[in-house]
Order: sequence, then C-alpha cells, then structure tokens
Amino acid sequence: RKPLSLPRLADMHARGEKITMLTAYDATFAAMADAAGVECLLVGDSVGMVCQGLHSTVGVTLETMRYHTESVFRGLRRVQGTAWLIADLPFGSYQESREQALRSASVLMQAGAHMVKLEGGGWTTETVRFLVERGIPVCAHLGLTPQTVHALGGYRIQGKGDAAAALLREQALALQDAGAAMMVLEMVPAALAHALTGELARCATIGIGAGRGTAGQVLVLHDMLGVNLGRMPKFVRNFMEDAGGIAQAMAAYVRAVKGGNFPDDSLHAW
Ligand code: KIV
Ligand code: NA
Repeated sequence: RKPLSLPRLADMHARGEKITMLTAYDATFAAMADAAGVECLLVGDSVGMVCQGLHSTVGVTLETMRYHTESVFRGLRRVQGTAWLIADLPFGSYQESREQALRSASVLMQAGAHMVKLEGGGWTTETVRFLVERGIPVCAHLGLTPQTVHALGGYRIQGKGDAAAALLREQALALQDAGAAMMVLEMVPAALAHALTGELARCATIGIGAGRGTAGQVLVLHDMLGVNLGRMPKFVRNFMEDAGGIAQAMAAYVRAVKGGNFPDDSLHAW
C-alpha cells in the first residue's frame, strides 16, 4: 500500500469510500493496526483515561502527547506503515493564542504526526487557518469535546435541537473554510452528522457515536477490543467477541466500516 496522504483522503471522501481510524498509543498496537489496514491512527488524548488512569482528558500534557506520538511513529516506521498519523493537541496547549498552537503543533509534527487535531468551534477557526497556512494539516473536532466536559456538563449528546444543530453547522462550515481537512463529529445526532457530511465536500467527517452517515469512523482502540472496566459507551462494538485475536478484530473493524456495517442502528439511539 502507498502511504496515505491528504489528496488520497480527499479522493476517498469524494468517492464515498469509508475512511477507517483507530486510536493508538504505542508502537506495537500501531503497527498491528496499520497491518490490519486501518488508514488513520489517532494518538488521542484519550491516552489520559486509557493509559494514565485520569478521569478526563483535561490532565494530559503536551509532553505526554509527544511521547506517545513518537512511540506510534516508531512503530509505524518499523513496519514501513502507511497509516496517516494524527495527534491531539491537549488541553491548554492551543487555547492561549495562535502562536501557542503553532508551537505545540510543531512539537507533535516533529514527533512524527502528519496532522494535529484540536477541539471546538468558533474561536478555533482562526487558529486552524493559522496552522493550515503554515503547512500543518488540521483535523477539527465538534460535538462532544471531552476537553470541555466540565463546561458541557458531562459526556452527553451534542447538537440536539434546531438551535444547537444550526450552531454546530455554522462552526463546521467555518472550520472547513479555514482549511480543516478532516473533522471528528462525536456524539451528535446521526441525521445531523449525515447532513453535514454532504455539505463538507472539502473536509472528511469522521464519526464516533454519530451514526453511519459520516465519511469515516473512529473508535478508541481499547474500547473496540473490550479492554476496559465494563463501562462501554453504547456506540462502541466489541470486535474481539467474534475474533480469534487482536489482528483479526482490527481487520473485522476495517471490514465493518468499509462495508457500511458499523455502526448499525442499534448503536446510536439518537
Ligand atoms: O482522544 C480520542 O480518542 C479522540 C477520539 C475519540 C476522537 O479524540
Ligand atoms: Na481526543
């Protein structure tokens, strides 16, 4: 396989070929996911909850993100992987100014990321434009934005109701205009995510808990492998249940997303 690139992602989006993404935090899982055909690996700040035992992603530092991005990058290089590597800008590393965001993004790009992700809409638009103009591909993230969980009042569905949906749409279009090439939509109504995906021709939507109408899907690696303490978000499927091992579970995830079989309607009741 040829390494994934922004033009190829845009082409997949245009052709309606589903884009597959999983989180990765270390070298070996990253190499396995790449071998299973996962096209995008996200070094998510979910690392704080999954690996560090934090209660939210708010406590994750830029240094932690750099460490895990380097680890994933080395894992991919070891197997001459082709995955597109995205790293989360953690809480507090981009809110202060566009310049601060650029400095933080540089740390992650120099650790091996191809793209950085940041949460929120509105004020983030100018930050995204600033980074993109300077050669840093950006993934936006709207809907449930875990770094602002305390402001949102919990891990709950976003964009419900006409006013909230209109605001989310306005922010999404502005982020596309600013140059965001990808956008995670987390826990938003399936109909809204589907409609936005049609409107965002230059920005590939990646859904999590957002129905099957998005350009691609993402899951937290540990969740889709059933490696957790039993509190599974209801939009997650445990791909280990019918798999003989981790490599097979990853491959099953890729097949399910590519075939439009994940998520199914029972997995999003909103
Ligand atoms: O940190 C993360 O894992 C994420 C995904 C859930 C999109 O941001
Ligand atoms: Na994240």
